[in-house]
Amino acid sequence: MEFYEVIQKRRSYRFYDESQMPEKEAIEKIINAARLAPTWANMQGVQYIIVQEKDIVKKIWKAIGQGKKFNNAPMFIIGFIAERDSGKNKNGELYYPVDFGICFEQLILAATAEGLGTCWIGFFNEEKIKEILQIPEKYRVLGLTPLGYPLKPKEDESPRKNIEEMIHWERF
Ligand SMILES: Cc1cc2nc3c(=O)[nH]c(=O)nc-3n(C[C@H](O)[C@H](O)[C@H](O)COP(=O)(O)O)c2cc1C
Repeated sequence: MEFYEVIQKRRSYRFYDESQMPEKEAIEKIINAARLAPTWANMQGVQYIIVQEKDIVKKIWKAIGQGKKFNNAPMFIIGFIAERDSGKNKNGELYYPVDFGICFEQLILAATAEGLGTCWIGFFNEEKIKEILQIPEKYRVLGLTPLGYPLKPKEDESPRKNIEEMIHWERF
């Protein structure tokens, strides 16, 4: 799929065909896209857990707790990073959420290119997710996504601002 088509096609999907598991090869390609992302001093701190076991998938939905907004999905990708596996800028601001965001978005775009649906989920019980997946204390789970074949086209349009509302040429 051509780059701008991928950008255009990526939407947040909340309804999946639970019976169709994504191919292992596609999952590896998706993680590889995240692996190639730029990170602070090339520290590559983001790690991923692939969850396909049905009962664990169920537990993850429970820890997300967003109810009927989603149906089920065959699997999840959970991303996490330790604060010390990235840097900080001159103001002392930590960059691990930035590294995470770049990697996870590359992952999501690659999933789109593979014809798969995702939805970045940022609202969940982090402690519960860490407990379910036995993720050590030092890591932060900053995002997760269901992965699967969308059941139906995107349910709403999620309109965007006009480019004129965002762009500044030369000065504010
Ligand atoms: C950091 C982040 C966190 C998000 N968390 C959630 C979430 O917890 N639940 C949800 O349904 N969608 C979540 N979304 C999806 C956004 O609502 C969605 O990207 C936005 O409405 C634009 O729609 P689109 O992705 O279909 O273009 C999140 C997206 C981002 C980038």
